[in-house]
Amino acid sequence: MSTQPSPWTTSAVDSVTASDAPRRKLPDPFALVIFGASGDLTRRKLVPAVYCLFREGRLPDTFSIIGFARTEKTDAVFREELRKGVAQSCRVQPVDDESWQAFAARISYHRGDYEDPAGYEALRQRLTESVEPSGKLGNCLFYLSTPPVCFEPVVEQLHASGLVTASAAGTWSRVVLEKPFGRDLSSARALNHRLQQFLAEDQIYRIDHYLGKETVQNILVLRFANSLFEPLWNHKYVDHVQLTVSETVGVEARGGYYEQSGALRDMVQNHLMHLLCLVAMEPPSSMDANSVRDEKVKVLKALRPLPAVCFGEDVVRAQYARGVHRWQELLGYHEETGVAADSHTETYAALRVWVDNWRWEGVPFYLRTGKRLPERLTEIGVHFKPVPRVLFNTGETAPLQQNVLALRIQPDEGISLEFQVKVPGSQLQIRPLKMDFSYAESFGREPPEAYERLLLDAALGESTLFTRSDEVEAAWAFLDPILDACNHQRAPKLPAYPAGAWGPQEADDMLAADGRAWHVTRRSQR
Ligand code: BG6
Repeated sequence: MSTQPSPWTTSAVDSVTASDAPRRKLPDPFALVIFGASGDLTRRKLVPAVYCLFREGRLPDTFSIIGFARTEKTDAVFREELRKGVAQSCRVQPVDDESWQAFAARISYHRGDYEDPAGYEALRQRLTESVEPSGKLGNCLFYLSTPPVCFEPVVEQLHASGLVTASAAGTWSRVVLEKPFGRDLSSARALNHRLQQFLAEDQIYRIDHYLGKETVQNILVLRFANSLFEPLWNHKYVDHVQLTVSETVGVEARGGYYEQSGALRDMVQNHLMHLLCLVAMEPPSSMDANSVRDEKVKVLKALRPLPAVCFGEDVVRAQYARGVHRWQELLGYHEETGVAADSHTETYAALRVWVDNWRWEGVPFYLRTGKRLPERLTEIGVHFKPVPRVLFNTGETAPLQQNVLALRIQPDEGISLEFQVKVPGSQLQIRPLKMDFSYAESFGREPPEAYERLLLDAALGESTLFTRSDEVEAAWAFLDPILDACNHQRAPKLPAYPAGAWGPQEADDMLAADGRAWHVTRRSQR
């Protein structure tokens, strides 16, 4: 039985479009200082996001962007690089001359060494001139887009130079840290401890761009703003949950970084854990940052410990080998630049996870992520229990398909519900149909980029979408047994999957052993 797209689609009941939504605006002047500004993230994500906010009139009249990095560069060169990045990646197009000039006038570049106090003194000078002509230090958002080894020295120097203690006199200073935050539980703990010597927890914004995605935020709205779903959202009605984050890209130019990371550290510890928490958490007592994060931490603490193995019934790790995708020949992971010929780093991970609490008793959560898979897609599938094998569900070989609520995080953001209907006619024929909601169709445009929302939130002091220290540690604590086992039990070879395929056979076997299959894979192969 195939699931045909249904003629039933949704429309917004009171025809609200995205452009009607209330717009939050930053009231206070501030400076955004980006450490590691010569890196890719600044060009591709951060500055395009700020430019979008600027174009939409969300920034105060007085704001500035200062890029801080070790490379020698003039303001003019820096601005030109950023203009190219904005033209390539910004949601608001075209990047016309007039608006770009107005925006670029607020951008400057500052060369400095991360450990050298002189650079911070000069930065302080610039900051007092750029935002507060009065000579006082104004509001500052420090964004650390540096390699993680620089987090501690930068924060220490910011503190030593008095740049992050400016919460007096009505001004604020906050520090945003890019992932990865540690590489296991003990390093994350040590980093938390060190940062908290210089900063209050409410000045620390550990970013995970998945939380800024519109559809990820919609998970809580779907669950708690509708009376329909929440009563069914538990072990009585849910059979299992599948989370797939699949990417078509390989490691690209990031082989060096990825070798030290792998799919578990790069994607599971952060992005997938957040998705899991949002799907599994209890309703928070309010939407304030700590109430939401308290509930997420409870989920992480309720996770059944994983076995300390690098492979096993509940843990699949694999690497992409050479393959062909859309007529293009793709290299295997071992052949990528910066990757060791005998690398044991996984580019794919699948886990069977249990949340040991009353709500989720006996419901497996299957998580998987991989590079060089056939589609770029992030989807959460809530699979409801099959109906009893009576009445319409008596076919021995082809039982009725279960109802599946699919939350499409990206691309084609939306939600669909699969259910059974009778095909019109004199015979009783039943077919699954899909009721589909698409953000783009219902709200008239693509949702904003994650970094727009997150930068705005950080500048507004709203930390719900950032990871708290105990949350990051609980996520590492869950993965630590596997990471530890991988360090100590060097298996001779990881299973391989051809680039462009849906991962290794072992991951399919993991579900097949439970009488299940990956929904996204099955759908894409129809
Ligand atoms: C990053 C990972 O955090 O997320 C990358 O380091 C990955 O390896 C990326 O490609 C995926 O993000 P998105 O938004 O493209 O799904």
